[in-house]
Amino acid sequence: MNISVILGHPSLQSFNHAIAREAVAALQENGHRVFYHDLYEEGFDPILWGADAKGAVAPPGSDPMRQELTMSDGLIIVHPNWWGQPPAIVKGWVDRYISERVAYLFPDEDEGGGVPIGLFSDKRVLIFNTSNTPKQREKEVFGDPLQILWKHCIFDYCGVKTFHRRMFSTIVNSTLEERRGWLQEVRETTGQFFPKQA
Ligand SMILES: Cc1cc2nc3c(=O)[nH]c(=O)nc-3n(C[C@H](O)[C@H](O)[C@H](O)COP(=O)(O)O)c2cc1C
Repeated sequence: MNISVILGHPSLQSFNHAIAREAVAALQENGHRVFYHDLYEEGFDPILWGADAKGAVAPPGSDPMRQELTMSDGLIIVHPNWWGQPPAIVKGWVDRYISERVAYLFPDEDEGGGVPIGLFSDKRVLIFNTSNTPKQREKEVFGDPLQILWKHCIFDYCGVKTFHRRMFSTIVNSTLEERRGWLQEVRETTGQFFPKQA
């Protein structure tokens, strides 16, 4: 399988980097082809500039990332919770690449106000997040905005049927043992989600 891994964290020493490394190792172990994007490392420009807003409907083959997304079988996205949102660099990647004709289409008679046809129905999407808020408080006080964003607003919209998101928390006061356990979980979840191909 072709799997794109998208990481949005500025520090190489972060737990997010450790998660991404573990996920990539599990994918490689299972024989998958990995397209790895550390967006900060790549100096990714997250702004959808005016001229590009039209580019949001550019054909799938018009850019390497669009081509990659079109041919990928799955996506793994790794980022911390920043104000209930992904870091801006990840949000910009969504703006620029989870785009019309790559991820969804509108039927001919629909100018964009209706329900789209998702083009990602065969793709599997796995999201790993980190935060410093305990799970229950995240749900009860904040309404788990990252779940709403990734599951409902983005990947349901694009037709994804196989979706899993895991938030690791709380990072700030976690022990080495906890972190080791979480990384083991990342390894296992990734391996199960993207199993070895016959
Ligand atoms: C700009 C910014 C905003 C943040 N907002 C939140 C937040 O809304 N909720 C939360 O639980 N943690 C928040 N945090 C804490 C990060 O989620 C936490 O530092 C990160 O998940 C730890 O993982 P790391 O070691 O890989 O950085 C924020 C951190 C930063 C830098």
